[in-house]
Amino acid sequence: MRIGIIGAGAMAAALGGGWVAAGHEVRIGARSADAAGALAAEINAIRGAAPEADRASGTAAAPVDVRAATIGEAIAFADVVLFAVPVSALTELLAAHGPDLAGKTVIDCTNAFMPDESAPDGVTAFVLSEEAVAERVAWDAPNAHVIKAFNLLAAEVWAGADRVFDGARLAVPICGDDPAAVQTVARLAEDLALQPFIAGGLHRARYLEATSVFTVGLWFGGLDARAMLPPLSAAFAVADA
Ligand SMILES: NC(=O)c1ccc[n+]([C@@H]2O[C@H](COP(=O)([O-])OP(=O)(O)OC[C@H]3O[C@@H](n4cnc5c(N)ncnc54)[C@H](OP(=O)(O)O)[C@@H]3O)[C@@H](O)[C@H]2O)c1
Repeated sequence: MRIGIIGAGAMAAALGGGWVAAGHEVRIGARSADAAGALAAEINAIRGAAPEADRASGTAAAPVDVRAATIGEAIAFADVVLFAVPVSALTELLAAHGPDLAGKTVIDCTNAFMPDESAPDGVTAFVLSEEAVAERVAWDAPNAHVIKAFNLLAAEVWAGADRVFDGARLAVPICGDDPAAVQTVARLAEDLALQPFIAGGLHRARYLEATSVFTVGLWFGGLDARAMLPPLSAAFAVADA
């Protein structure tokens, strides 16, 4: 698949690196050519060099395809575009490139975190500065197929080698309105050895955004957010008769 990643920071590195390793063609589009080039080179260095023994035996995997680009080039190249930028960048990005996203799958992994001024001194906590970012993205790029995914967890988790916890593969909730785009992102999650959870239309993306800020608050407070949820078998998830 052809993937254009907008941004060259932590999420671009984590998801882009994984998708390159899975054999996808990736373009890193950033406003700084140096930053895009540096990330493309970093991914190449990690993923590109096949072990000597594999090269000698001819069993090396196909060479990776990751290159630096401008933001416009990365979007033009891609079937799937990942926005891996701060929420504060979206207005400008969408004003400049919204029409170019027509027909493409756009993954929004952003979170609109801002400090919670009411938190006690010494406690790190956040609230949302905006409550429905993915819906805004869809509004500003009306012909794109916008999907919310990968916003719940830290880049280090997405980049990690082993994401099976208590015997269950880590899940990625995916919200979006276009069934084909949802399936595309589900495959991209599987390519990262993650379990896609199809989680409803884009109107539900705001719940993912709220879940992120809520769980991060628990984690920063030293509480294990995982412990507040029972397994499905004990969740009484059956509608009342
Ligand atoms: N890091 C995480 O663990 C994590 C987890 C889940 C979700 N997220 C969300 O993912 C998004 C990206 O996070 P990140 O940690 O990857 O951020 P990051 O490491 O700070 O990288 C952000 C990237 O966006 C670029 N950027 C900033 N303003 C821009 C603008 N106006 N136009 C174009 N590009 C711009 C930056 O370029 P410059 O270098 O030129 O500034 C940089 O390449 C954020 O919305 C964040 O909330 C992050």
